[in-house]
Amino acid sequence: MRILLGVSGGIAAYKAVLLLRLLREAGHEVRVVPTQAALQFVGAPTWEALSGQPVTTSVFANVDQVEHVALGQGADLVIVAPATADLLARAAAGRADDLLTASLLATHAPVVMAPAMHTEMWEHPATVANVATLKARGVHIIEPAVGRLTGKDSGAGRLPDPEVLMREALAVVSTVTVESPSVESVPAESVPAEQGSGGDLAGLHVVISAGGTREPIDPVRWIGNRSTGRQGVALAAAARARGAQVTLVAANVDVPANEVASAADTVVPVESTAQLRQAVRQAASQADIVIMAAAVADFRPAQAADVKIKKTPGGGPPVIELVENPDVLRELVTDRLRTGQVIVGFAAETGDDAGSVLDHGRAKAQRKGADLLAVNRVGGGAGFGTLDNEVWILDATGTEVAHAAGSKREVADAILTAAVAKQT
Ligand code: CTP
Repeated sequence: MRILLGVSGGIAAYKAVLLLRLLREAGHEVRVVPTQAALQFVGAPTWEALSGQPVTTSVFANVDQVEHVALGQGADLVIVAPATADLLARAAAGRADDLLTASLLATHAPVVMAPAMHTEMWEHPATVANVATLKARGVHIIEPAVGRLTGKDSGAGRLPDPEVLMREALAVVSTVTVESPSVESVPAESVPAEQGSGGDLAGLHVVISAGGTREPIDPVRWIGNRSTGRQGVALAAAARARGAQVTLVAANVDVPANEVASAADTVVPVESTAQLRQAVRQAASQADIVIMAAAVADFRPAQAADVKIKKTPGGGPPVIELVENPDVLRELVTDRLRTGQVIVGFAAETGDDAGSVLDHGRAKAQRKGADLLAVNRVGGGAGFGTLDNEVWILDATGTEVAHAAGSKREVADAILTAAVAKQT
């Protein structure tokens, strides 16, 4: 993996040297981007010798290679350790006044920051707000440890040990690789005849999105929905049990972590629709079957506030302007990122005066153009968060090709069987 290791100016920079070593020993390619202040603590020759790569801090170095965007664009993972209060503030404000902050703006890779500072600075409302802003944008924060700080003081603010940093940072990328679940871990009644590597999905790559996206309003609030992600996780587990290689794009799923981890070969955690779209599209370019089980927010706030929106006396409620999100499923159908790929959508419907659940499902099947659409009834205790589910599986013309009712695992198996039948 190509890792960009940002180091900002704190005494804990020495631990980043050890982190660099560990990452290199694990076979990763690491490009170190210190801030100018970080070089006061550990000099460029140390970073260059241990990373085997040149070290610059300024956006004006190597301009011919447009490094201020190239480094961020080329990274698979960005780790900033230690992240000082100043670095957090600059990143939260979207500044690009040195190579590290410019790279943070230019990257689409997961970003992990490990703050380290004195307790007073860590607890200051400015730092608290900056951390909340960064978290709301999807930055993973490794909480500082409690212990001895630089002077005589001790408290929260210590940079965790390099081994902890490495473990937590690499866990974020992903990609939880686990052994196949044992046969015992799958309820016996729902085990299809073909199991594991010899199953009917052997050799196929299946991408499944699950859960519900969250669109930030401010650092502490979001627009979301009630999806738990159980149906999507059940689909992943069923596909894996039938021999597929499974990538699960998990949006805020409310399912025990061990169940999520054992359901897929690769788990990509996401929060917002923008993150889900990117993760699904990346995985879909290699996928034979893509199943969009996630409840994707149709709208997002036009702007996420950087700081918490406060009540003002007599000010009345805030007006939140919404803009439409891209339709990820529709785009997948239009773009067909891989030839012969089978694309499956979901439709959560309540039915209303204008039509029944199935009427709305048929109209949606034609509108979305997915190869299959699994229509399920929600509301009144059905669908979201319940253990049992009922779906009608329609093709792109709205014609019913299957109907399934039962546990989410049984419904999952029925959907997979319909998807396999669609494969040419
Ligand atoms: N979907 C998507 N991107 C969106 C909205 C929905 O990819 N912005 C996908 C969902 O993952 C699901 C399917 O489209 O597979 C249908 O989602 P649903 O919310 O039922 O449909 P909408 O298109 O949002 O239609 P409406 O809200 O009008 O019912």
